[in-house]
Parts: sequence; C-alpha cells; structure tokens
Amino acid sequence: MSEEKQLSYSEAIQRACASITRFPLIPVRGVPLMSLIANNWDSIWAFRPDPSDLLIATYPKAGTTWTQEIVDLLLHNGGAEACKRAPTSLRSPCLEFFSPPPIPSGLDLLQNIDLPRIIKTHLPFQLVPPGFWENKCKVIYVARNAKDNLVSNYHFDRMNMYQPEPGPWEGYIPKFMRGELAWGSWYDHVKGYWVEREKKNILYLFYEDMKENPRREVERIMRYLDLSVSDEVISRIVELTSFKNMKENPMANYTFVPVPVFDHSISPFMRKGEVGDWRNHFTPEQSKMFDEDYERQMKGVNLPFRTLI
Ligand code: A3P
Repeated sequence: MSEEKQLSYSEAIQRACASITRFPLIPVRGVPLMSLIANNWDSIWAFRPDPSDLLIATYPKAGTTWTQEIVDLLLHNGGAEACKRAPTSLRSPCLEFFSPPPIPSGLDLLQNIDLPRIIKTHLPFQLVPPGFWENKCKVIYVARNAKDNLVSNYHFDRMNMYQPEPGPWEGYIPKFMRGELAWGSWYDHVKGYWVEREKKNILYLFYEDMKENPRREVERIMRYLDLSVSDEVISRIVELTSFKNMKENPMANYTFVPVPVFDHSISPFMRKGEVGDWRNHFTPEQSKMFDEDYERQMKGVNLPFRTLI
C-alpha cells in the first residue's frame, strides 16, 4: 500500500474514532458477534477467496498477531523491513472486521492487497465462508489454553472500546463458560476446528507449544506452507517475533489503533505473553469451579491443552 493510502487510512480512522462505541452482540446462527459484523453478515459469508489465500483462524487472544507476523516473515524470507511496510491489520486484514465508515472493512482491504494474502479470522469453523474449503485454501488454527485465553480476553475487553464491557472479573468467568462473549464459545471454537483438522488439512497449533519451542513451530508452519528458508532466516524470524521485539514493533503492537479505540494505558495489547498468567487471576475456588465445568464441556474430545509449560 502506498504511503499516501496509508495516510488516508489513518486519517479515516481518526475521523471515525469519535463514533466508536462498545458494540452490542447479535447472534449469527447462534454465535454472538458484534453488531457491525452481524449486520454485514451476508457479504462476509459470500466472500470468495483465491486458492492461494491463507487463513489464520483463532479464538480472540490465542496468538493471532504472533502467527500473522511469523507467516508474513516466512513469506518475505525473514525481511524485517518488508514486514514493517504497514500495520498488522493492513498486511493481514481481518475477514469479518467492520467499522463505522469511512474506515475500510476487512473485505475492502482484502480487495487491495496482492496475492497470496494472509487473512485473519476469529469466526468459528461453521461460520467460515464455504469458499475457503471449496478452494482448498490453507488454514492455520492457533489454540490457547482456556484459562490464559480467558484472562487475555478479559484484559483486551477492558481496553478495546469496540467490544462489550467486560464487567467485573468474577462475572466474566461464567460469561466465558457460557460463551456469552464476542465470537461465542471458546469450547465450541477449539473443538470445531480440531474435529475437522484432518479432513480440511488445517494446521492446528498451540500457543503453549509456540512459547515452549518457537523455532520448532516456525519450522512447522514453513513446511505446511511448502516454503523452504535457511536456518539463519528461521533464527531471524524467531528473534523478530519474540514477545519483546513484537511489543516494541509499532507495526505489530497495535499502538497504530488510536486512543480511545484501543486504550493501552488500561491494558497494553502486548500485555504479558506468558503461559500460566491465569494463576495470578483465578482464586482456588474459581479455578475448581472452572475445571469442573471444563471437564463437562470438553468431554470426549482429546484436545491436549497445557495450562503450564
Ligand atoms: P496476553 O494478553 O496474555 O499477554 P491475539 O493476537 O490473538 O489478540 O493474542 C494476543 C495475546 O498474544 C496477548 O496475550 C499477547 O501479549 C500475546 N502475544 C502477542 N505476540 C506475542 C509473542 N510474540 N509472543 C508471545 N505472546 C504474544
């Protein structure tokens, strides 16, 4: 995207900021989505991807931005400058993103970037437009253990003025358990992609594995994308996508979204980037209650989550 276009994009964001509000959730086929998404559902569902498009799908706060950065760097042979050409949300637009005009929607942005495109989505499996499966697009799914995912989502809801008010922490846990948050149930989300992963050739990754051994997971992504980059490039990608480096990278740390839309003084987008932060939030009673419900909701699905590494 040209410098001029980037400028007009940020100007448009500034103008529209004043009208940003916490949008209510409206169910689409039973899944609560922000009203802006629900009201534009038909055009999202009708999206026709190119067979070369790559979809990165996650429940919000599972490591989407991290994976977007890894993939963009792999496609640019580890070229840091290429990946600083624009903010994450322009390099790799969110399929279902809609905002008050004149901010371009995800669909608008996708029309203006070159193939192969990296497309982000938080849609659960059953709401992914069928064109992705018909065209056999590659899909990377990243899952994060429920407790850390919940904590990260809670802090994000506090700082993100698009999403409904999180309310107090005690009440947020049952809302998560009931799937009453934007993009619905975490449990259904992670299970939906898991059961389809082989049939649909989905690369299913875990945030905890990425933290444990980022090099191994970058190589896994590289092989899935049929790419081959040198060991030196892999090392560079691991370094450039460390939490510390991404937190300092203005093209990846979401400081490009202006206050008051994202208020990093409430909670930074790049918050902690750890496994096990849930222990600083859940009381022993909350943890017990959550674990018992978790057993019920995840029964019969052998999904190997780790809450500590
Ligand atoms: P925390 O809130 O736990 O810190 P998403 O990109 O899906 O919105 O996920 C955001 C979460 O991923 C945040 O988690 C953020 O800090 C973390 N994250 C982003 N980049 C990361 C990286 N390079 N390494 C580890 N965690 C990262």
